[in-house]
Amino acid sequence: MKKLFVLPVLAVCVWTAAVYAEEWKANNDESKVISYTLPDPLICGDGTPVATPELWTEKRRGEILDLFRTQMYGMMPDCDKSKLRWETLRVNPVALDGKAVFREIRVWFDAPNARPKVDLLVCTPRGAAEPAPAFLAYNFYGNHAVSDDPWISLADCPDGTRIQGKDLETERGRSKDRWPIETIVDRGYALVTAYYEEVVPDYHSERSLGVFPLFAPFEENVPEPSRAGEITAWAWGLSRILDCLENIPEIDARRVAVMGHSRLGKTALWAGANDQRFAMVISNDSGCGGAALSRRNFGETLDFMDQVIPFWFCPYYSRYAKDPTQIPFDQHELIALVAPRPVYVASADEDLWADPKGEFLSAWNADPVYRLLGTAGIGGVADVPPETNVPVGAVIRYHRRSGKHGVTEFDWNAYLGFADEYLK
Ligand code: GCU
Repeated sequence: MKKLFVLPVLAVCVWTAAVYAEEWKANNDESKVISYTLPDPLICGDGTPVATPELWTEKRRGEILDLFRTQMYGMMPDCDKSKLRWETLRVNPVALDGKAVFREIRVWFDAPNARPKVDLLVCTPRGAAEPAPAFLAYNFYGNHAVSDDPWISLADCPDGTRIQGKDLETERGRSKDRWPIETIVDRGYALVTAYYEEVVPDYHSERSLGVFPLFAPFEENVPEPSRAGEITAWAWGLSRILDCLENIPEIDARRVAVMGHSRLGKTALWAGANDQRFAMVISNDSGCGGAALSRRNFGETLDFMDQVIPFWFCPYYSRYAKDPTQIPFDQHELIALVAPRPVYVASADEDLWADPKGEFLSAWNADPVYRLLGTAGIGGVADVPPETNVPVGAVIRYHRRSGKHGVTEFDWNAYLGFADEYLK
């Protein structure tokens, strides 16, 4: 237990030190980006060009998904839905001065009243005439951190999580700037959030934690290098939350945008790639291992990830740490797996660690798949990053706002506008 507490703290220290240490310093020099050729999402493994939507859907999509599953994020088990249980624990029918209803719902993944489980905060517009479209997004510090509303329960956090042992009462609302709940419900959307480390604590490679033990029977038949990393476990959790949302009358589960910031943006993309029930995918500053092209090796590198956070991925991925040009896929194909559903990729211009240009180019290079499937894709914009603070594109949307790594009002306004176009 003590060890579990010390490990995450240690991992954060090593990571912070590493970010600043010369030897792993990010490449922030565009002139050092090597020339590379991206794998073509529209050529099958056997060389057949993908000329029809059917060939994409029936063959090529599955090939790409398999590559990401076996070589990058790890295999994701199906869920035995008969074991899934949920219960509404508390309801505040007059939250936000009567504008919203807040619910706390507990989801058990395996057996009622036993971990692993996850606690949802579900905020819906009050008195809505029809089930609301929703944003589903994990939070980093517990549901109590997304608002300073004292009604929200303090996170009930398992061993190994970074908030274990903290005085949570003092942490209420610490991330509220990233969660404009009132604006979201005013615009007619629901917000569903949950603390991601309840699904699997971050900074661990132990398979005894979170939902990993549930994966064990499935993983008996999975070669060790392709076993799920933490991003897969978190993405699996998002799908289970969606299973639960399908049973909540106030929410329209056919109109759920899965959204995430940074590592949780990587997770949102991977969840959207695996689970086509997500109607929209939003990646906020997801960077390396998320939206950014690996071959550019700009900002955070695969090598850095392999040294500091290898457990987010499956072991196989380490093979590419020193030379990303060897990967038989790149992250534009992760975005292509979301097609034809709307996808938003966002960057911040000071967030070089996440490689804004690489995020843009990734979105841009997913366009041929979107167009093959009959959508407007990136809407014909040129392959040069747009001006700061100007969203561009169509079903594939992109912006690079000014400022640092984070989620801001600008980002949310853009996502709400995008949802107005494609979810309403
Ligand atoms: C680190 C990590 C990134 C990640 C980020 C985050 O910076 O290197 O890959 O996106 O943490 O999740 O906050």
